[in-house]
Amino acid sequence: MKIKELLTQLTLEEKIGMIHGCGIFQTAGVPRLGIPPLKFSDGPMGVRNEFMNDRWVPNSKNDNITYLPSGGALAAAWNPELAYKQGQVLGAEARGRGKDVILGPGINIKRSPLCGRNFEYMSEDSLLISEVVAPLIRGIQESDVAACVKHYAVNNQETKRMSIDVEVDEQALREIYLPGFEAAVKDGKTHTVMCAYNKFRGHYAGHSAELLDKILRDEWGFEGAVVSDWGAIHDTEEAAKVGMDIEMSYTPDFDDYYFAKPLLTAVREGKVSEADIDKKVLNVLKLMENLKMFSDNRKRGIYNIPEHRAVAYDVAAEGIILLKNEEKLLPLKPKKLKKLLIIGDNASRHHAEIGGSAELKVLYEIHPLLGISGRLGGNCEVTYARGYAAETYELFDCNTHDISPEINNVKIYPPKPDEDLRREAVKLASEHEHVIFVGGLNHLQDRECFDRDDMILPYRQDTLIEELLTVNPNMIIVMNGGSAVDMSRWANKTKAIVWSYYAGCEGGHALADVLLGSVNPSGCLPETFALKLEDYSSHSIGEFPGDEEKVRYLEGNKVGYRHFDSADITPLFPFGHGLSYTQFELSELTINGTEIKCKIENIGAVFGKVTVQLYAEKCLRAFKKILLHAGEKQEIIFTLKELEAGEVSIGFSSRDIRLKGIKND
Ligand code: BGC
Repeated sequence: MKIKELLTQLTLEEKIGMIHGCGIFQTAGVPRLGIPPLKFSDGPMGVRNEFMNDRWVPNSKNDNITYLPSGGALAAAWNPELAYKQGQVLGAEARGRGKDVILGPGINIKRSPLCGRNFEYMSEDSLLISEVVAPLIRGIQESDVAACVKHYAVNNQETKRMSIDVEVDEQALREIYLPGFEAAVKDGKTHTVMCAYNKFRGHYAGHSAELLDKILRDEWGFEGAVVSDWGAIHDTEEAAKVGMDIEMSYTPDFDDYYFAKPLLTAVREGKVSEADIDKKVLNVLKLMENLKMFSDNRKRGIYNIPEHRAVAYDVAAEGIILLKNEEKLLPLKPKKLKKLLIIGDNASRHHAEIGGSAELKVLYEIHPLLGISGRLGGNCEVTYARGYAAETYELFDCNTHDISPEINNVKIYPPKPDEDLRREAVKLASEHEHVIFVGGLNHLQDRECFDRDDMILPYRQDTLIEELLTVNPNMIIVMNGGSAVDMSRWANKTKAIVWSYYAGCEGGHALADVLLGSVNPSGCLPETFALKLEDYSSHSIGEFPGDEEKVRYLEGNKVGYRHFDSADITPLFPFGHGLSYTQFELSELTINGTEIKCKIENIGAVFGKVTVQLYAEKCLRAFKKILLHAGEKQEIIFTLKELEAGEVSIGFSSRDIRLKGIKND
């Protein structure tokens, strides 16, 4: 039966059942007409575990999945092809787990480093996000599963996320906050979009005619379905009259959702027209048709296979960023390494299972200590010292506790005093020639519902690092986290710094391979790492996280490096920065209309990958990731859709420009 005919067969009650949750992760189907329920799962670093239908109680024993690198790691790879592969894995696993919609990717702009969900998000730059999100979505949707790009729009903080009203000017909206979503719709052809919790210009994002009708559907031509964030709808009529299609929430009172009985009543009383309901149902039916949910030929997906882990490894390896490497301290030479000391809680911590809706039940997660020890083998004696204490946690037994969605299924224990740990680590560091510190943040800081208070490293890591550097100035520092941390106290005193975003189940192997030199690092920062918090524009103007009701994005489009450049503030590590174990040289720039050419040569001694970045008027306009053997030279051609007259620069970061030219009128 055609979907339009199907629509005519449906009763009002059946239609209403299809547009609101009748479980925390599904809508009702209509069995008499062969319409299945629509099944959702988080997202975005893998497929979340199964829950009971009406409670946040995990209830399955065969739902462990592949843990993929986070949005930050993916963006740090600057590699659209890899994004596509990661999408293929996510889609196949979601379908393999019987899902219709995977709730990701999350692409909100990193407006402040403090946003608790930055670890899920990708970048401060809209072009980089756009180039990564579109192939990622295409990859996901190949498996007859819908991506659900989130959170539309301007959801750039967790503080008061359910109510904060975002005031943003039109230029900033169009240049910074919307392009990623536009690319997800137009280039990625995402089947679904998730509205944000916050308000936008006085209206909840899920009630906003401007966001959902004018921009998303009329301007961008979106033909899919809009899903509410869980609990983002606050009024039946307001939401019913705009292009919001499916109301989901986190409480078990499914019949009382705004799009449940209250909507039925509103239609019966003539306050909402049935035609409005029909539009939503048609969007759901179209979605089901696109996902082949009415056909026998739907792909069946697959999860937890070695090929998926290989992709997780590839993304992790390209997403690791070498921030600093004086005296060629890295890579370490495995053959010469007889003793190695590894310090830090993040060396032995598993990250996947907490953090909010992005948490995962993984089959395994290789942490750095295991990754490095395993790769080094039996000829090297690896010693581990925790160095500082961090919170520990326990996942509840699923059936014995009443679990609230805010805390999920986790009980957190505060850290114990750590003087002994510190003393032990400093002593050992003074006795070892080779020391690697693995610290940074974990999901007690990078988590949903909360923003960080500041950029300072938790657990007094700064003090510890300084002491360690005093006894061992050659210590290599690895920082893990979802967004910038303050490294100002010791960044100048250390010779080597490596940055890793949450890197998935193979993260420890990828890190080991970068440190030991079998992988030449090629990640570049997708965000600016400042010396201090006040250097970020949202903080310098005192507009993060706003007041009781509003946050005003008064910095306009001066977000991230655009602000650092225009205000002439030197960052610790600039947007786009990332070192390699080889060197590259750029030459021969020519600009011909919108076609820009140059040459790139690997002038070092080893194979490497490099991201060549093109900026016009100091904004990133294009990039290409190039693979070159030692001595190899290649021409790069950038073909832009449009290019205004003015300066064009090409380089290896927003602050490392090697070639400049002028585009004439
Ligand atoms: C989050 C979404 C998530 C949803 C379902 C919400 O709290 O903001 O990103 O997809 O819950 O778990």
